[in-house]
Amino acid sequence: PAERTDTVTPTATPTATAWAPPAQPMTFPAAFVFGAATSAFQVEGSTTADGRGPSIWDTFAAVPGHIAGGATGDPAADHYRRWEQDLDLMSDLGLRSYRFSVAWPRIQPTGSGPVNQPGVDFYRRLVEGLGERGIAPAITLYHWDLPQPLQDVGGWAVRDTAERFVDYAGIMFDALGDADATWLTINEPKTTASVGYGTPYHAPGVADVQQQVAAVHHQLLGHGLAVRRFRESGALGGIGIALNLLPVYPAGMGAEAPTTRADAVENRLYLDPVLLGTYPDDAIGEKAGQVHADPAAFQALVQAGDLDTISEPLDVLAVQYYGVAGIDRTGNVVTIAPQSDAEWQQVRPEGLYDVLTRLTRDYPDAPPLVVTENGIPDPTAAGTTQDDERTEFLRAHFQQAARAIQDGVDLRAYYVWSLLDNFEWAEGLTQRWGLVHVDFDTQERTPKASALWYRDVIAAGAVPP
Ligand code: NOJ
Repeated sequence: PAERTDTVTPTATPTATAWAPPAQPMTFPAAFVFGAATSAFQVEGSTTADGRGPSIWDTFAAVPGHIAGGATGDPAADHYRRWEQDLDLMSDLGLRSYRFSVAWPRIQPTGSGPVNQPGVDFYRRLVEGLGERGIAPAITLYHWDLPQPLQDVGGWAVRDTAERFVDYAGIMFDALGDADATWLTINEPKTTASVGYGTPYHAPGVADVQQQVAAVHHQLLGHGLAVRRFRESGALGGIGIALNLLPVYPAGMGAEAPTTRADAVENRLYLDPVLLGTYPDDAIGEKAGQVHADPAAFQALVQAGDLDTISEPLDVLAVQYYGVAGIDRTGNVVTIAPQSDAEWQQVRPEGLYDVLTRLTRDYPDAPPLVVTENGIPDPTAAGTTQDDERTEFLRAHFQQAARAIQDGVDLRAYYVWSLLDNFEWAEGLTQRWGLVHVDFDTQERTPKASALWYRDVIAAGAVPP
């Protein structure tokens, strides 16, 4: 399934300039944080252990036809039981930080009410294990596994879910506030809204545009409320939101508009409220490429003070970058770059440079940037550990990150997606995104060639030519 809104209008954001990497290694600042990322539902398994409640992804994956190969979240990569071994693996690779997510249904099995202490204890052990190994935690609060009982009363389409989210976030700030972590409130609100609510392909599979735009607003509101709660809690560390940004480029003739609906739908609908406290007025409407919801109904959801909440100052802005899209003159997404085995992914390393420099240019008051996801699935028929395509992908993207830093972008960290092969949502176990191969029959872990390459990058603090 496509992860992106598929019809968009002509655009003219800056064209990616071809760039040749230097012949020498490109060095990163000494404090640069090299990391890798996972999310709870994608790696943990043990979906009924220790009092965990059901999430929307458990429900969704149980329906035949939803997930390739009929996979479910159990056992996934069995990380809930193998976490210590996985921490050792991270040490071996020299990771400076590990980004994981907390499964809300482990903390509050029904999405509200009392704390399920064994769930909290798991993440406490994980954070302490990271601390013992000198690996900094980056903790995502919401990576798509909404407790099912909250969906039963409307999920992100209703405002109350934002209130429930901030209660849960507060529990975690109180429990792990001493960890000096980087906290991320919501992972990819665009994907949840557009694929989870706008299509049947991701949980909860609602396929309703009005609920889609409501989910945008209520996730962002939950984000802002959680940032406030973070400040009140006195937790150490910093906080931000993880946005998947998609640079769009004109393809073909006659696509010269300086600002575009494609960019509004893909990027400004999230960046503007979070960083400027305004919603763009060209994302929602009946024109080609807009989200075809009723703009007045959307505005009616936005209560006095909401945009102040949503634009609470952040410590970091987290960018998830996978590729680019071309937009033709009729507003359709067209292929302008080589495609990966994820059909929505058009690979263009320069797009990362464009995204990072664009943020610095268009949002001068933005906080420091971190890249919290970037990666590629193994090509079909692979599933071996000789993943040269991934190594080349990462090399090219790390070079663009280094180039952006040289050109003045305040980029502090970069997390590869993913540490482990895992449950890739609707693709189940059929798409392998890991630096580390997981044999899903034996759960044996084997670092791929790209992991060993990354280990050397981290050790050198530089990306080789
Ligand atoms: C973004 C999501 O945050 C992550 O869960 C997913 O696995 C990757 N993209 C790859 O599709």
